Amino acid sequence: MDVRRIPTEPFDDQRPGTAGLRKKVSRFREPNYLENFLQSVFDAAGDFRGATLVAGGDGRYWNAEALERLFSIAAGNGVRRIVVGRQGMLSTPAASHLIRLRGAAGGFLLTASHNPGGPDGDFGVKFDTANGGQAPEALTEAVWRRSLEIREYRVADVAAVDLDELGVQQAGPLEVEVVDPVADYAALMEQLFDFERIRALLGNGRFRMRFDALNAVTGPYAVEILERRLGAPAGTVVNAVPLPDFGGLHPDPNPVDAAHLVAWMSGPGAGDLAAASDGDGDRNMIVGRDMMVSPGDSLALLAEHAREVPGYAAGLAGIARSMPTSRAVDRVAEALGVPCFETPTGWRFFCNLLDAGRVDLCGEESFGTSSSHAREKDGLWAVLFWLNLVAVTGRPVAGLVQDHWRRFGRHAFARHDWFIADGAVAAGIMAGLEGRLAELTGQALAGARVTRADSFTYTDPIDGSVSAGQGLRVFLDDGSRLVYRLSGTGTQGATLRIYLERYLAPTADHGGSGPELTAALGSAAARLARIPALTGIEAPAGII
Ligand code: G1P
Ligand code: ZN
Repeated sequence: MDVRRIPTEPFDDQRPGTAGLRKKVSRFREPNYLENFLQSVFDAAGDFRGATLVAGGDGRYWNAEALERLFSIAAGNGVRRIVVGRQGMLSTPAASHLIRLRGAAGGFLLTASHNPGGPDGDFGVKFDTANGGQAPEALTEAVWRRSLEIREYRVADVAAVDLDELGVQQAGPLEVEVVDPVADYAALMEQLFDFERIRALLGNGRFRMRFDALNAVTGPYAVEILERRLGAPAGTVVNAVPLPDFGGLHPDPNPVDAAHLVAWMSGPGAGDLAAASDGDGDRNMIVGRDMMVSPGDSLALLAEHAREVPGYAAGLAGIARSMPTSRAVDRVAEALGVPCFETPTGWRFFCNLLDAGRVDLCGEESFGTSSSHAREKDGLWAVLFWLNLVAVTGRPVAGLVQDHWRRFGRHAFARHDWFIADGAVAAGIMAGLEGRLAELTGQALAGARVTRADSFTYTDPIDGSVSAGQGLRVFLDDGSRLVYRLSGTGTQGATLRIYLERYLAPTADHGGSGPELTAALGSAAARLARIPALTGIEAPAGII
């Protein structure tokens, strides 16, 4: 085999963030930029000679070009086979499942998740290891170090691959196996959920559902599973065709970017359940009639009812949530008598716990939930879980949430995102607040008193690795909590996220939205960190 070594120079901005490397398309298109990063992964992740890898993306602009380059670098590094979704498409959870199903050595996911697509949008690369989970921090840091010293990458000539044609094609030294991206994933969902009961619900002629794929990767998955296998009426899935620029939509399932779904769920003629997923299919949003289900509540509720769903009938070994996620699920875990782990933001931190069998259910406040069936979060899975619960309990979505609040109390939650153009200013705000944490205890804040404040450090209970600086936490004596951290997925400037949580007892009045109930806490949090004073910005750029 003819392997060519191409000389290159390092780039200084290839440190993977919360979920892989994300940059503007224009940056990725610079000569050698993608090649350098891929080669750095091959160098840092081990020997892939003779191995099988999975590859696919969310279909965003530049997906096909990036795949071609990946094929030739994989071949140059001795990879024997690449299993790729038809047309280069694989949702993030489907890719995770495929890696595990095939015993592949890992996989490359070409996605910038919910970030906008198109020539002026974002592109991204995630690397999953053999367990189907995102590269752990030690590996992403090794990739970054490698990217700073790389001097050459290896390519081999591979023939053109027809990504529309299922089956194995020999492309020079590389075997490329094109698979139906949906089939294995759909089969897995049939094992986990009671399709018969869901079919009876969706086909009863009364239950009205809408799933918005936001012109991103989940369209074909949702049409196959919801409409074909579960009998939902044609047209239940909207924006079902993946487009390279997502049709100009922002493929992020949240009440702001998918406000049209929330609107469809209120007033006369409202539906019974609306849901959406993001660009690469790992996030989910669930809306009931006049009820936006907060992700923290969703996680708590799935935990509470897990035994009513076939795949979890034996109960959960444990539960994990990311630190900023509301503590609603902690109360459920306590009631179930199972452990609840608190991890840093980013799905990769759940993977060791999942691999060790310590947890079966995980979730993040950022509209991500999943279980031990994969090593990534899974949007459609969450929708099917909710459908299964509605089908077996006979309760509407809003009723399930209210029942939960009456039993456990409500953790009202919101996230304020402050966009700060100058990253150094944002870092300074965080450092300033961190320096004042020790003096906060006992101080009055938003009508309560600070009981404790710290910077979150996580020690992985499985491998003992320590991740420091994972967010600043302020706890109040009325059960409220503030969390501050800098986003690790943006491609320009800095986004300082403030997570607000306020506890309302089971007997309290539970009316109001999360953002409404935490508004006062949010203003106090911004002042505490001196954001308006140091930036001149008076209000967050986004509230979710
Ligand atoms: C965001 C979310 C985080 C999620 C990640 C990838 O990261 O906050 O929970 O895992 O996207 O979907 P952030 O931008 O906050 O670093
Ligand atoms: Zn995503």
